[in-house]
Amino acid sequence: MQLHDFDIDVFLRDHWQKKPLLIKNAWPSWDNPITPDELAGLACEPQIESRLIAETDGTWNVENGPLPETRFGELGPKDWTLLVQATDHYVPEVAALIEPFRFIPNWRIDDVMVSYAADGGGVGPHYDQYDVFLIQGLGKRRWQVGQICNADTPMLPGGDLRQLAEFEPTDEWILEPGDILYVPPRIPHNGTAIGNDCMTYSVGFRAPSRAELIADYCDDLLEHLDSDDRYGDPDLQPQSNPGEISAQAIDRLHAILTEKMNDREYFARWFGQYNSTRKYPDMDWAPEKQLQPGEVHSMLANGTPLLRNPASRFSFIRHDGNSVSLFADGDCYTCTDEAGYLAEQICAHGAITISPEMLESDPVAALITKLYNKGSLAFEQPG
Ligand code: SIN
Ligand code: CO
Repeated sequence: MQLHDFDIDVFLRDHWQKKPLLIKNAWPSWDNPITPDELAGLACEPQIESRLIAETDGTWNVENGPLPETRFGELGPKDWTLLVQATDHYVPEVAALIEPFRFIPNWRIDDVMVSYAADGGGVGPHYDQYDVFLIQGLGKRRWQVGQICNADTPMLPGGDLRQLAEFEPTDEWILEPGDILYVPPRIPHNGTAIGNDCMTYSVGFRAPSRAELIADYCDDLLEHLDSDDRYGDPDLQPQSNPGEISAQAIDRLHAILTEKMNDREYFARWFGQYNSTRKYPDMDWAPEKQLQPGEVHSMLANGTPLLRNPASRFSFIRHDGNSVSLFADGDCYTCTDEAGYLAEQICAHGAITISPEMLESDPVAALITKLYNKGSLAFEQPG
């Protein structure tokens, strides 16, 4: 699906990670994918992350979900908003909103958060660390944006909402259904519902911080190191001042660290697995009935499409020769030949049909079976 009046090359050159962009009337025909009632229903589910934010005379109150169904009847007519994370995991029509943005790699995608606001509702001026496309779904919202922030930008005390202490808008627009505002990381923004029934879809991206990468990579290395892998100096020479740590010792110590950090192949495999871990790894998507080897043929024989679980994260790394490492939901599958082709197809498309010839390949059938049993892939239900 292609957006109206949107040139990917120009966007990447002039806006991505640089400056906001308003895309008016971006969808060929806009159809709000989930109703306010359905969203409220998701906020009552215990496994779904949601927040209800209300402002009264400058005081902000945040309630974390799951919310009791009765909570919505108690709310006033103004100044509150409901936010539901990862709605794309549960509602395929919401997951479809990501499709026009697939020119950005899978590994950068986070989720689609959906907000519903009563008149005047919003989360206040703040900045995020991530790129976001804010799609107006229903009703109207005024968006204001300001100058780029950094770690020294003064914030209001009270943490949760990470609101800015000062906010001077440099631009503002009123978005209507089907309009999109792209906001780069650290650009402050403030969205306020104008009138009732305001719904906004945030297609959000992610980028690891250096701190996360170092900490999580080191955690992994630590799991695989043993205690007799340590500094040694069988060639020790006498030194004039026993207090000196010699340049030679520093070189050797430094090498102990960098040898492990510099192993690009090990890092690539680790990163693929780490990055493809699901947003909510504790949620179990495995099917009740596990597929046995051999059963996959009959399941797919009549052209039944294979679907990627929208909650799953798929990406791959290409190696020399004809092999790829497929990463799905924290696992790594080494795939060659037809299985490698299948891995690339799954990463490129949310739904694929497997040709009868492909199904004859044992590695293909084995890969599908493993991914199905993990809940990363499903078969389209008939009807
Ligand atoms: C909202 O939808 O109200 C908040 C989205 C955001 O500011 O990131
Ligand atoms: Co934001």
